[in-house]
Amino acid sequence: MTTTHEADEDLRNQDILIYVNGELKPRAEATVSVYDSGFMLGDGMWEGMRLYDGVWAFFDEHMDRFFNSCKAVSLDVGMDKDGIAEAMRMTAEANNMHTDVHCRLMLTRGVKVKPFQHPSLSQSGPTLVIIMEHSKPVEKLSSQGIRLATVPQVRGLPMSQDAKFNSHSKLNCVIACLQAEQAGADEGLMLDPHGFVNTTNACNFFIVRRGEVWTSTGDYCMNGVTRQKVIDLCRADGIPVFEKNYSLYETYGADEAFLTGTFGAQTLVSEIDGKSIGNGEQPVTERIRALYKQAIADDIAANS
Ligand SMILES: Cc1ncc(COP(=O)(O)O)c(C=O)c1O
Repeated sequence: MTTTHEADEDLRNQDILIYVNGELKPRAEATVSVYDSGFMLGDGMWEGMRLYDGVWAFFDEHMDRFFNSCKAVSLDVGMDKDGIAEAMRMTAEANNMHTDVHCRLMLTRGVKVKPFQHPSLSQSGPTLVIIMEHSKPVEKLSSQGIRLATVPQVRGLPMSQDAKFNSHSKLNCVIACLQAEQAGADEGLMLDPHGFVNTTNACNFFIVRRGEVWTSTGDYCMNGVTRQKVIDLCRADGIPVFEKNYSLYETYGADEAFLTGTFGAQTLVSEIDGKSIGNGEQPVTERIRALYKQAIADDIAANS
């Protein structure tokens, strides 16, 4: 089995320092209370970011999503974007990290005074944790590709739990992932409530058909930073790109398919429901990969 978040083994990750509410703690001592609302209820938001040559790629876009999500659930971050940047700088410096690093920034509503749901029971402020790991996605992810299985678990309507929340509660995605594993695949391809192809359990999903790039309307999936970059880069480069409804019919018959996410950038999809995708050539995906690499280089140049 391959996962989209597979990285080369790096023993240095055993000795990392983890930021917990302003303190840097060795991995084994970096803990939160069993009364923490993140542990108890999945009541928190997170962001995954990547460090390239000392610059957190697309930091402003990640912060925009993070602060928007926190505001939407009345979760007071307790600091502004600069405060988050400083906490991340501290953590990277303490770990002597400069490039090929992945960060999981997590904020929960904090420790509760009683083990129940009501948000008002969290009375001592939020819990902020920053885990940074040395991380290089395994090479086979970009060359071999991964296998998807369409799963029964769907992405719901935004008035249940909006898929745009990068919340600690990922049970919807975890169930989809389990279903994919049961079906012998690496990741689950999830449909929307109308049966159109939507997203995977951990990444956004694109197909290439007859020279055009298609992805879902965006109504039921994570508003991925990488997803938006790919759309913008296609537009700027003259590659026809459409956010639209399409079904498994068009998906199985696609020439190329790939996933997007901060961790793996663009990950090739080799097979869906046992059907191989395309003829093994991925000229459009390769072009998009090159454009994305350049966009990161531009972001580094503008922010270092
Ligand atoms: C469900 C889901 N889809 C897609 C993504 C990719 O988003 P991004 O490109 O911002 O990393 C994520 C990452 O957090 C995710 O959790």
